[in-house]
Amino acid sequence: MDVPSRLPDPSPPELALSAELRLRIVNEIKANDGFLPFDRYMTLALFEPGLGYYMNGSRKFGAEGDFVTAPEISPLFGRTLARQWHNVSAYGDTIIEFGGGTGRLAASVLEALAVEDALPARYLIVELSPQLRAEQRARLGALPFTDRLEIGWLHDAPAAPFEGLVIANEILDALPTRIFRCDEEGFLERGVGCDHTDALIWHERPADGTLAAVLAERLDGLALPSDLVGEISLQQALWVADLPRFIRRGLALLLDYGNPRHDHYHPARGEGSVRCYWKHRLHHDPLWLPGLQDITASVDFTAVAEAAVNASLQVAGFSTQAGFLLANGIEAQLQSAMQADPAAAARLAAQARMLLLPSEMGTSFKVMALGLGDELVLRDFAVRDERHRL
Ligand SMILES: C[S@@+](CC[C@H](N)C(=O)[O-])C[C@H]1O[C@@H](n2cnc3c(N)ncnc32)[C@H](O)[C@@H]1O
Repeated sequence: MDVPSRLPDPSPPELALSAELRLRIVNEIKANDGFLPFDRYMTLALFEPGLGYYMNGSRKFGAEGDFVTAPEISPLFGRTLARQWHNVSAYGDTIIEFGGGTGRLAASVLEALAVEDALPARYLIVELSPQLRAEQRARLGALPFTDRLEIGWLHDAPAAPFEGLVIANEILDALPTRIFRCDEEGFLERGVGCDHTDALIWHERPADGTLAAVLAERLDGLALPSDLVGEISLQQALWVADLPRFIRRGLALLLDYGNPRHDHYHPARGEGSVRCYWKHRLHHDPLWLPGLQDITASVDFTAVAEAAVNASLQVAGFSTQAGFLLANGIEAQLQSAMQADPAAAARLAAQARMLLLPSEMGTSFKVMALGLGDELVLRDFAVRDERHRL
């Protein structure tokens, strides 16, 4: 794993912030016999109060940030996704969004539902970052119909059980993951240590009993290349298993980049799928300047489906992002947006291409629908049901 040689230079304050976070990480490494599992390192790098990537106030989204997500690319994404509300609106009154970004997804979903006079009673956002929460408040507070629903923020998944829709766009990939390597001796866990200069380095140790058991179960029957390095998320399964605690009846939409398991651990991915973003440059070294870059890992959607079934949820749909958006009417959304603003037609068409094309986000991103409570028959979920690939 290496960093491209020509990343933009961080500023002196950015370097100072990262050095302070690295010191905290190094102290924890030394207090833990020289080894931090990668999920603990990722938690510190992303969420350490005041210093972690999502907690330090730096600009993340958009041209001046580090990356763009589908709702940042186009309002067409949220307007199209809003159609899924109708699968649960007969009884549901609440939408819960995890990790609301800049608030654009919430705004476009709510704008589409307001036009149809189909707003939920409540839109709740679970947000860990104080800076993003403030940005969401400002954006949603400016909507012209805020007196017609309750909009609220939570630090954690709600305690009370609701009925309705859960939206998680690019959340599972941000949940801290473990890393393993398999060699002829068995499974090794890859974690983070430090050298005599306190620089962060990779360290390996034999996988402990819990990790080895999960690896043995999930990798059973796969043809793995020798020396494969891969990620294995324990937290994604916990996140899914928690859903029935706060959704009594409804639908959870999980949108993320990832694959069914046989592709997730495909021999061509020998070095794993950890991705880091800094000023719109993608690289694969998560130990580079912690706190300055986003760190994500591709989702094993088969593991998500298994966790759902174990928690008595229904895997109600699985599709590519393109298949999902086309079935939910993105073309009609595009047409009406173009008619409303002809001067923006070329820009809107380019946005739709980014969301749909296989070379952009169309097939690398997937959408999984989980049903909670009653058996759910989804209307218009996807142009092609891909559940057989899980
Ligand atoms: C790449 S951003 C995606 C933001 C937004 N959903 C979008 O599509 O623009 C990842 C988000 O996941 C959030 N996140 C990570 N772990 C979370 C958790 N346990 N609960 C809620 N949000 C979480 C981060 O705070 C961050 O906002």
